[in-house]
Amino acid sequence: MIEFSVLNISKKFNKKFVFENLSFQLSDSNSIAIIGKNGSGKSTFLKICAGVLSPFSGNVEIKIGSKNIDKTNFFLHIGFVAPYLQLYDELTPTEHLEFCCNMKNVKFSKSVIEKVLEEVNLENRKNDFVRTFSSGMKQRLKYATAILHKPEILILDEPTVNLDKDGCETVKKIVEKQIQNGILVYATNNLKEENFSSNVLNIEKNNS
Ligand SMILES: Nc1ncnc2c1ncn2[C@@H]1O[C@H](COP(=O)(O)OP(=O)(O)OP(=O)(O)O)[C@@H](O)[C@H]1O
Ligand SMILES: [Mg+2]
Repeated sequence: MIEFSVLNISKKFNKKFVFENLSFQLSDSNSIAIIGKNGSGKSTFLKICAGVLSPFSGNVEIKIGSKNIDKTNFFLHIGFVAPYLQLYDELTPTEHLEFCCNMKNVKFSKSVIEKVLEEVNLENRKNDFVRTFSSGMKQRLKYATAILHKPEILILDEPTVNLDKDGCETVKKIVEKQIQNGILVYATNNLKEENFSSNVLNIEKNNS
């Protein structure tokens, strides 16, 4: 049993609230779409959910079974894909995934890495430098990095940005697989992506 509780989150930049008291609670096989106009705070909210940005007030809690996960270990249970996350240009996809596993102290095998690269259709480019990749190929590698450790919670900011039809299908499969056992949280401005989930949270100030 996984429980992801995001409770009464408020965030201020330059003394002004971007949003106040946003909450949701999800357990296994559940998902939520975060929507709201440009600048309403979707990306900021997702960063707080992922534990990479601190809120002004509120709490993010992960419980797996009866165990509360310490904030310093959130990264072991969360996969995060977002346009502003950086990849290492000087590495190949294989090296990139190995490096990320080493950083997280997560065990990996060559076959698991190859399987994930196949899943995102990068197996033909696995030995090319990331700096030579198109934006869609970089987005595919971000997915591989996010799902490699089979996180209980997958957080996606603009899930299909830069992806072609085939890439969108890959994302759909990843999303469906995630919702079977885990938790999915994503932000979108794309009406087509809204139906990935039946739960929607509109964070625009006059709607919250
Ligand atoms: N580091 C920061 N410092 C100051 N202001 C910031 C910072 N990050 C975001 N903001 C501001 O917070 C607000 C929300 O930004 P955010 O990127 O979260 O919106 P968004 O809903 O994701 O927008 P979009 O749909 O364009 O992706 C914006 O007004 C933005 O300028
Ligand atoms: Mg955004």
